[in-house]
Formats: sequence, structure tokens, C-alpha cells
Amino acid sequence: MSVQFDPLETGTGIPYAGLSKLRAESPVSRTPNGIWFLARHDDVMQATQHVDCFQASFRDPGVVVPDEEQLISEIPEPRHGRVRKIVNSAIASHRLGPVAKFVDDLSNHLLDEITQRKQVELMNEFVMPIPNSVIAYLLGVPTRDFALWARWSDEVVEGDYARKNRTERGKGLGGGHPEFAGYVDAEIATRQDSDSPSDDFLTRLVQTEVDGHRLTNVELRTLVIFLLIAGNETTRNLIGNLLTRLAGAPEIFEMLQSDPNLIPLAIEESLRLDPPVAYLLRDCIQDIEIGGKTIRRGEKVAFGLASANRDESIFEQPDAFRLDRPNPRGHATFGGGPHVCPGSTLARLETRQAMEAFLARVHSFAIDPEHIADRVPVFWANGPATLPVTLNAS
Ligand code: HEM
Repeated sequence: MSVQFDPLETGTGIPYAGLSKLRAESPVSRTPNGIWFLARHDDVMQATQHVDCFQASFRDPGVVVPDEEQLISEIPEPRHGRVRKIVNSAIASHRLGPVAKFVDDLSNHLLDEITQRKQVELMNEFVMPIPNSVIAYLLGVPTRDFALWARWSDEVVEGDYARKNRTERGKGLGGGHPEFAGYVDAEIATRQDSDSPSDDFLTRLVQTEVDGHRLTNVELRTLVIFLLIAGNETTRNLIGNLLTRLAGAPEIFEMLQSDPNLIPLAIEESLRLDPPVAYLLRDCIQDIEIGGKTIRRGEKVAFGLASANRDESIFEQPDAFRLDRPNPRGHATFGGGPHVCPGSTLARLETRQAMEAFLARVHSFAIDPEHIADRVPVFWANGPATLPVTLNAS
């Protein structure tokens, strides 16, 4: 049996009924485009460990990029391990202390404004500024510019860059998005020229040595832009998906209001049921057998995170939103193996603070009955584009 839908076309929503059938009948199969699709939790999690066989790539076949422009998720070992160490140290838990207060202040500031009104578009007016400002705050770039590079990061992920390494304007990030690249290059140059370095992430990136030498300016730019995008395009979907669930389940909203200690469990359940990244794409670089099928070098593979998260063999009642799961963090949403998301603690922290503030200030809310659910126009992402609601706050 081949997959009856195209996993690259998730704009209309994730076809969960079809995925369930696949897990039961054909867990390793081909999409109509010839891409292998892994549907089961065990296969997905095992495959993330095999970096010798699978290399991350959203690029179309034949599109090769210079090493300097490889995204961190694409960099092969051992270079990846060394770049990864710098990223880990920059967003390690002990560096996140001030983030909770930052998000709390920002969320309350946004709520001060929106709770004056009944009609609010939550994605733009509450959700989107939070992850954007946090990643700017950590990197050390001016948080006041968040709307600017939120737009740029949307333009990069919604355009052809990820698949072709170019846009209609030019090749690579520098050519494809000169404004974004120029902004980041200027921030890097400021730190290279500075006699009194500050303690932000960007300064540490500029000063740390990898492979016995410092990252080049193009490597730095690529990494910083990846971080801005990774911190922004995913956590926004998490907060938006959780708010959507809660709008449709007032009894859970009230439960969280009376016991905010349940918020982390609601976050995990949202991550599992509505993963912000629906699947990962890989190039097979060495033949491997999975689930009795041989995947050959040169073929493309999609790791079905959204499917793995509803695997009946791992999660009882997989389609239900439950706060009493024995394995709340057992989902595949942050990937696995050497490329597992280093931002998961940060994403959970931001979402918790934002939700605590929202639950404290908003008595109830409902999505406008006329609203037709719209999705972000990014082929691998899963989250609402807009969320027009009626708020009841005093
Ligand atoms: C809910 C929010 C998030 C989700 C669902 C998410 C998901 C993921 C997934 C699935 C991967 C693995 C990619 C792969 O194997 O190809 C990944 C990698 C990555 N994420 Fe996240 N992410 C989130 C938030 C963040 C944040 C806030 C940051 C922050 C700064 C971040 C930074 C990264 C980086 C740098 C990588 C590449 C790691 C590597 O290749 O070694 N992510 N993320």
C-alpha cells in the first residue's frame, strides 16, 4: 500500500485517519511522490539515531549547498557535534533564569492592551511577539525589532529557500534574503569590533572556536538565522495550538485556572496531539533496513512526527487530550538522536509563562463562530495562522 496523501501538503491539516491506517497496515511506505514515510513511533525514534544513514534536508534532489551554508540540522558529524556544543551552552538551562520574568512581563504587557477589548486576534496580538522577543533577548539583538525579523523569518520559511537554497532574488541566504542577512551580519560585526564584549549568545558564538578555528561570517550568519527561525516558527505554533485546544475545551481551561500546576501536562499533550513540526525530511546517505523495507542511498525519507505521536501502541486513546498520561513526554515532537531539539526547555518555559499570565487574566474565551481554521503556510509546520476570539476579562 502506498501513502494516499502527500505529506508535503499539510496546509489543509494533517490526515490523521489515513495515518492511523498506515500505522496498522503499512508503517514504512512510499508517498505518491516516491518519498519514504515512517509512520510508527518506534521507527521514527530509531531513525533519528541513525545519522550515519539519514541526513536532514528539505532541499530538492540535486541542490547542493556549500558547507558554510549548511543549516545545523544538516551538518554531518563530527562537525555537527562541535557546533552543537556551542548552541547547547548558549541555551543551557542555567542561562534561562531571566527568561521566565522576561516572558511574564511581556505577556502581561500584551494582555494589558488586549484585555481592554472583546475582539482580539490572538496570534498576532499575543502569541507571535513572545517567542520572537525571547530569542532576540537571548541572542542579544534589539527586541524592539522583533516584528521586522518575524516577517523576514516568515519570508524565508514560506519561500523556496529551504527547498532550493535560492529565491527569485538570489542564491543562499545572503542573496535570497539580503535584508535579513545584512541585519544579522551587522550585529555580528558590532561584536567582532567591540572592545568590551557583552555576555549575550551572539558574542559567545563569535568568540568560540570550533575545529580549532572560529566560525566564518557566513557560518555565523547561517546559524543565527536558523536560531531566529527555530525559536520563532515553532513555539508560536505550540502556544497557538494549545490556545486553540483550550478554546474548544472550556472544562480543561477551567481546570488549569484552578490548578496552574497542570499547565506543563497540558503543554505536553498539546505537543503530542498538535506537534508544531509535523514531520522531518531526510536524505538517505547509506542503505538501511527499517520495518522490513530497504531504504536506499539517494532516496528521500519523511519521519512522521505527527503520526508517531498518535501511535496506538504507545498512547492509549491517542486522539484524546488527557492530562493523566503515564508518559506525558513520550512524544516525538522534539525529534531524537544527536539532532534532538536543544530548545525544548526554552519552548516549554516560554509557553508555561505565557499560559500562566493568560489564565490569570482571561476568565473565558471563544473562537469566533464565523472563523474558518487557517494554517501557517509552511509545508512542515502545524499551527494556526490566525485566532480571532472573543475575550471575557475584567
Ligand atoms: C515547540 C517548539 C519547538 C519544536 C516543536 C521544535 C522542534 C524541533 C525538532 C523536531 C528538531 C529536530 C530537527 C531534525 O532532527 O532535523 C529541532 C531542532 C532544533 N531546534 Fe527546535 N523546536 C522548538 C523550539 C526551539 C527553540 C525555542 C529553539 C531555540 C532556540 C530551537 C532550536 C533548535 C535547533 C538549533 C535545532 C537543531 C539542532 C541540531 O540539528 O543539532 N528549537 N527542533
